[in-house]
Parts: sequence; C-alpha cells; structure tokens
Amino acid sequence: MPNKRRVNYGVDAPGVIRNLLIAGAVTIIISFVFPVVKMGSVSIDISWLFWTGAYLSLSGFLMLGYSLFGKFKHRDRMLNLINWSGDEQVLDIGTGKGLLMIGAGKKLTTGKSIGIDIWNEEDLSGNNIENALKNAELEGVKDKIEIKNENAMAMSFADNSFDVILTNLCLHNIYNKEDRNTACKEISRVLKKTGVGIISDFRHVKEYKRDFDQLGLQTTLLSANYFSTFPPLRILVIKKL
Ligand SMILES: C[S@@+](CC[C@H](N)C(=O)[O-])C[C@H]1O[C@@H](n2cnc3c(N)ncnc32)[C@H](O)[C@@H]1O
Repeated sequence: MPNKRRVNYGVDAPGVIRNLLIAGAVTIIISFVFPVVKMGSVSIDISWLFWTGAYLSLSGFLMLGYSLFGKFKHRDRMLNLINWSGDEQVLDIGTGKGLLMIGAGKKLTTGKSIGIDIWNEEDLSGNNIENALKNAELEGVKDKIEIKNENAMAMSFADNSFDVILTNLCLHNIYNKEDRNTACKEISRVLKKTGVGIISDFRHVKEYKRDFDQLGLQTTLLSANYFSTFPPLRILVIKKL
C-alpha cells in the first residue's frame, strides 16, 4: 500500500459519486416524510422509494470504496498479469494521478514507464500533471517515469514502441464507438510485437475485444473482481503476436 498520508491517487468520477449520494439521501428522506401521497381520493404508497434511495446510496459508497481502497488491489491484479523483467517500455493510457504508471515504474530497473492523459477534471479528483508528478516523486520513481499530454486516439509514439500497455477506466470516456475503435487501433499500433496490453474498464470491454480481435491480436477476457471494484471492472489481456 502507498504512503497514504501524502500520496493521493484521487477519487474516480467524483461528480457521479456526489450525485448518487445526494439523490440517495433525498429519496430516502422523501420515502420517510411522505410515505403516502394523496391525490384527491386516491392514496399512492411511495414508501418503496426507500429501496431506490438505499440502492443509489450504496452505489455511491461502493464507488467511493473502490477509489479509496479497491483501486490498489485492482492495480496489483493488472500489474501481476505481466511477467516483468525490468527493462520494459511501458505506456499507461489515461494515467490520471499515475496509479498504473507509478505501479509499473516500481517494477522497472532500466525500463521506462510513460503516462499519457488529457486531464479531464470530472473523471478524477485533482486530476492534473503536477499531482501525477508529485505522486511519482513521493513513491520514489520519478526517474523511471515520464508524463505526456496526449490523447489515446492520436498518440505521437512510433509504431511498435511499447512492451507493455496499461489502461484503467479511460477508454469508456471516449463516448463515440468509432473513436473508441480509433483508440484501440492506436494501442495496437504502438504495442511492440510480442508486447502485452492490459485493458481494464467497466463498460464496452466486449467491444474492445472485438476491435482487437479484428486487428489480429490475441485476446483474453478476464472476469471482474467483485470485492475490490465497483462498478465491476473487467480486464482484457491483449497480445500482439
Ligand atoms: C477515471 S480516471 C482513471 C485514472 C487512472 N487510470 C486510474 O486508474 O486511477 C480516467 C482518466 O482517463 C483520462 N482520459 C479520458 N479520455 C482520455 C483520452 N481520450 N485520452 C487520454 N486520457 C483520457 C482522464 O483524463 C482521466 O485521467
């Protein structure tokens, strides 16, 4: 576990969590204060709204739990899928505050771990390049990492640049299917022959699998760990043969 007093990898989708908790609390309060609504001579029982509120609140708390605790287990699960030798060139797409870029950096001796992002503030609290660099410094891997401002859909790297490509909770933020396909093509392009990609997301993962299959990569879809991730995060392992 990182030094939690100082290292801070942020809360994913903070606005979504806030809205779930507010909507949940309001719905629960309404179900207690107005369990029955009268419209003329008709009485409608809305006490069942309690369960809707409980579901919304629980979802918000589980998402928060992932950000505060589960994401470290999930990072380790992703990184443990790689047979590290220490000299790898690694790319973390949508690195945010550097969770996977830094985790990979710790596995390296002569290799380099590069993180790219476009720093969407709504996707992660405190999401900026300075905070990612600060985390890398606090984790003692500043000399092993490099951070670039780049979009997953149009990367500047040469073909066949990386032994390992990692990405967690990034690609679903590309809202258009064609654009996600473009990002998959870019990942395939910059991955070295015999390189491995670990793609993790909570939606569209079967779509990514189809895209990489069509690009001729070997793909294996792993199930989510329901105890450490919420929403459940599936992992797609891709290999360029
Ligand atoms: C939910 S955060 C996850 C951050 C990090 N991967 C983690 O697991 O802690 C998603 C990240 O993807 C980034 N992102 C979204 N769309 C992107 C794109 N098209 N190219 C690069 N990064 C992107 C966001 O800015 C954000 O930092």
